[in-house]
Formats: sequence, C-alpha cells, structure tokens
Amino acid sequence: MSAIASRRKTTLSVLALCGAVAVGEYALRDDASCTNYDPERPRKPLPTHPATSPRIIGLIRYATLAAKGHNAQPWKFALLPAAIEIHPNYSRRLPAVHPENRELSLNLGCALENLLIAARAIAYAPEPTYTESRDLIRIDLASDTPQCGPLFDAIPSSQSTRFEYDGKSIATNQFSQLRKLPLEPQIYQHPAPETSGLATLADYVDQSTLRQHADEPCGQELIHWLRFNNMEAIARLNGLYSACTGIPTVPRWLGQWFVAEAKPQAQADADVKKLRSSASAVVITSESEAKADWVRAGKVYRRMALWMSSLNMKSAFLNQPVEVKSVRSQLQSSVGLGTARPQFLVRFGYATSMPRSLRRPVEQVLIPT
Ligand SMILES: Cc1cc2nc3c(=O)[nH]c(=O)nc-3n(C[C@H](O)[C@H](O)[C@H](O)COP(=O)(O)O)c2cc1C
Repeated sequence: MSAIASRRKTTLSVLALCGAVAVGEYALRDDASCTNYDPERPRKPLPTHPATSPRIIGLIRYATLAAKGHNAQPWKFALLPAAIEIHPNYSRRLPAVHPENRELSLNLGCALENLLIAARAIAYAPEPTYTESRDLIRIDLASDTPQCGPLFDAIPSSQSTRFEYDGKSIATNQFSQLRKLPLEPQIYQHPAPETSGLATLADYVDQSTLRQHADEPCGQELIHWLRFNNMEAIARLNGLYSACTGIPTVPRWLGQWFVAEAKPQAQADADVKKLRSSASAVVITSESEAKADWVRAGKVYRRMALWMSSLNMKSAFLNQPVEVKSVRSQLQSSVGLGTARPQFLVRFGYATSMPRSLRRPVEQVLIPT
C-alpha cells in the first residue's frame, strides 16, 4: 500500500471511530425535540379535505420538498386569499457559488413545479405568474377537478441521491421518453451522447471540482452549510447532512479538520466516479440568463427528477461545471449546446436510496401576515 493510500485509510478509520463515539455521545445528549424529529414527517400525504387551510399548508410542505443548492431552502411563502406567493430569501443565498443569484431563481423554479403538481392533485387549477420587477412568483388557485399522476406520487420519495450508482443502463424506450418530456418555453435538454458523452463531462467535472477547491470563499460557504452530525442537522433542519451522502457523522471540529485536509484531486476523482457509475447524464439549458428563464429551468429539472423517480431511477446534480465560469463556457461550446446557457448537469441511473435530507417545518417558511 502506498504512503498516501495508507494515510487516507488511517484518516477514514479515525473518522469512522470518532463517528461511532460521537453518535454514542450525542445519543446520550439528545433532547426530546431532537429525538422526536421524523424526516418522513414533511413527506406525509396531503390532506384532500376541502377545508382550505390544511390543504394550503400541505401544498407549501410539498413545495419545500424540492431540491435546492446546499439544501439552503432559500424561500418564503405568503398566503393570500385564493393565492400563494413564493419569495426568495436572500439571507439564504449562496454568494460564493452564485454571485449573480442564479441558483436562487433555479431553486424557486423547483419549488414552484412541486407546488403546481401538488395543487392539481388536490383539486386546484393553479395559475402562476412571475413578475421580475416584484421578484416573486404568484400562484392563483381556483377550484378544479383533481389531477393526480405519477409525478405527484413521486414528490415525497424523490431525492438527490448523491452516491455512486450501480452502473446499469436504462432501457432505450426510457431514453426516448426522456427526450419527449414536456419542457418550458426557452428551455432545452441535451442528453449526453451515448459514446463520448460521459467522458467529456467527466473531464469538466474534474476541472471544475479542482477549481472550486482552490476557491477559499466557495470552501467557506460549503463548510457553513455542512451538517456533520445528527445534533446540528436537527438543530438547523437545513444544509448538507453527512449521513445523506454516506459519510460518517462526527463532531463539527473533526468534520472541519477533515474537509481542510481533504485532497482536491481525491474529491474530483470521487465525483468523476459518481458520474461514471451513472447510466447517463443530461444538461438542462436556457435561452437566456433572464430570471424568468432560470425559474423555468428549475421547473424543468424538477419535472425531470420526478419523472425519473416515478420509474425508480435516481438522479443527482454534478453542477460544478455549471458553477465555475471558465468551465461553463467550455461546456457550452463543446457539448453541442450552441448558444444555450447550461443551468444544470444531472446524472441519473439506478442506486439504493440514501437517508432523507431534512426540511424546516412550514411555520418557519411562512411570511407572517
Ligand atoms: C441549483 C441547484 C444546484 C445543486 N447543485 C448540486 C451539486 O453540485 N452537487 C450535489 O451533490 N447536489 C446539488 N444540488 C442538490 C442539493 O444538494 C439537494 O437538492 C439538497 O441537498 C436537498 O436534498 P434532496 O434533493 O435529496 O431533498 C443542487 C440543487 C439545486 C437546486
């Protein structure tokens, strides 16, 4: 065994041991509110009874199950007579990764798509309007007949499965269904070419992961949103909880030390391995960088992820090539995207589910009226 491999193995063993000690320690110190938290609670079925209030609260709960960068949950919801508004929460933006707040609008688009699908399922005809000048999305809700379907059923179980997949391909007819998935105006999808596609994307994942590692503010931002153990995950109900990616849970000081010591190339190799273990990948692009296009791109990603989930496929982002400017422009010019702007790089395939990512309760995302 090489000296580096031996050191990495020792570090991992120490982490695993500390993880076991830490779990024991925290189990003893857990208070009632911690031990009572059930990650399935936000995912319980929606009330279909026509009494308005619980139904609307249920809709917001389903909206918050959407994906969001670093699980920051950068949204707030206002309840109006026969309407809901989704507002950005700028205190939860990711300025290092997305100085121009692109991710914020992509996130709101994801939440909007969940909300629209759920609203139709519980007998509303939702009518969304996005006004850039007001910086919010308004959804008017009129009564209708319920329209359930596989995308609605997939909302509670869908997750970003951020681990290695089993390498199996998906059936050819599923690829053609994916290509026919309804999109939004000015939004496109570009499945990776069957032969060379993943190799080219792997190169971009490698380059961009190394650049992000070398970027101090990106690293600080990531550490801010990492939740290294059960106690801090449950205290915040947001952020990237180690257990969701199969990493041992440890005290914060140890997790921070490990992140500081991590070799950038080892992280890049791990992400490339995740890509190569996937059946394939798809890039979602938009015609422009207008906020409305970002919202629409978020909607399309979410629709795609739910469609995959409904077929027992797993999906996850590897968005570094979209986040690092210089790699983003290479991605744009060399994978046949033309002038369309890449917004998401999504890999998909088959894998076992990971533990649930946590969510804040609806009370914490409502704008008081
Ligand atoms: C705009 C955007 C960018 C994201 N980028 C990444 C990424 O680069 N890598 C990753 O593993 N997850 C990424 N995610 C996924 C989030 O980390 C994930 O949605 C969040 O942790 C909640 O987990 P869940 O989707 O399983 O509920 C991204 C999500 C969004 C909406």
